[in-house]
Amino acid sequence: MEEFTTISGQRAWSLEQRRAGKTIGFVPTMGALHEGHLTLVRRARERCDRVVVSVYVNPTQFDNPEDLAKYPVTLEQDRQMLAQEGVDALWLPTSGEMYPDGYCTFVELVGPLMEGLCAVARPGHFRGVATVVAKLFNVVQPDVAVFGQKDLQQVMIISRMVADLNLPIEVVVGPTVREPDGLAMSSRNRRLSVESRAKAIGLPTGLELANRAFKQGETNSLKLTELVYNELLVHPGVEVDYANVVKLPKLEEAETAGEACVLAAAVFIDGIRLIDHVLLGGASIPVKVDE
Ligand code: PAJ
Repeated sequence: MEEFTTISGQRAWSLEQRRAGKTIGFVPTMGALHEGHLTLVRRARERCDRVVVSVYVNPTQFDNPEDLAKYPVTLEQDRQMLAQEGVDALWLPTSGEMYPDGYCTFVELVGPLMEGLCAVARPGHFRGVATVVAKLFNVVQPDVAVFGQKDLQQVMIISRMVADLNLPIEVVVGPTVREPDGLAMSSRNRRLSVESRAKAIGLPTGLELANRAFKQGETNSLKLTELVYNELLVHPGVEVDYANVVKLPKLEEAETAGEACVLAAAVFIDGIRLIDHVLLGGASIPVKVDE
C-alpha cells in the first residue's frame, strides 16, 4: 500500500493510474476505522482497479471544538486494516495543505436537504463536509466514490453535489453495518463507557419499535417518534437531539409517515453524539444501495 501525505503525491499517483487506464474507487474517512468502513472499501475494490482511502479528521465540519479534540485517532491500526483489505493508496491529508493561510472557498448548500436533521442541529457541518469531499474528489479524481447509508443526509447531500457540480463520479452507497446487538458501528462508539454503550442500544431498539408500529398501521409521525423518545429517555444522561420522520429524497419533515419515509434520530449518550435511522416499511433510498 502506498501512502501519501501531500496533495501533489496523491494527485501524481492518481494521474499515473488513470494514464494506465485503471479505474479508481475512493472511500473518504475520518479514520478510527471499523467494519462499516471496510465494507465500503470492499465495494470500491469490487468495482474498480485501484482503491484509495483517505483518513482526515476534517476540522471544518465540526461545529463543536470538544468533539473535534476528542475524535478518536487510531492511525497505526487503520493502516494495518487497510493494507489487509488490499487498498492501493492511503492518503493522509494535512490541514496545513487542505486549509492553508488565506483559505476562503466553501461549497454552499441550500434548499430542503439543508433545512432539517443534522443540517439544523449542527450548523456549518455539511458545508464543511461538502467542501472537504469536493477537495478530496479533485485530488483523487475517482471514478467511483463509496459512502455509508448510516450518514443518510450526508450521502444525499454528496449525491446532490456531484450532480449539481457535474462531477464525473458515480456515488455508491453501502448499507449500515451494525454490531450484533443492533448498534450502528461508528468511530464515536469507542468513546462510550460500558454503561453508555448499554444506554445507546435504545437508539436502534426505538427505531425498530417505530418501524414495527409503522408496519402495523401507525402513520402518525409524532406517535412514531415518541416510541424512540420513550426507549431512550428512561436512561439518565441521554438527550435526544432530534427524532423526525422525513421523506426521501429531500428529507422534508412528514407529519404522516408513508411511502419513502425515514425515521432519523440523533442522540447524546453521556455527551457522545450518535445518529441512526430506519427506512420505514423497508423504503429504499434513491441512490444506489448495494446489498
Ligand atoms: P466517517 O465518519 O469516518 O465515515 C466514513 C464513511 O464511512 C462514510 O461514508 C460513512 O457513512 C461510512 N460509515 C460510517 N459508519 C458506517 C457503518 N456503520 N456502516 C456503513 N458505513 C459507515 O463520514 C465521514 O467520515 C466524513 O464526513 C467524510 C465523508 C470522510 C468527510 O470528512
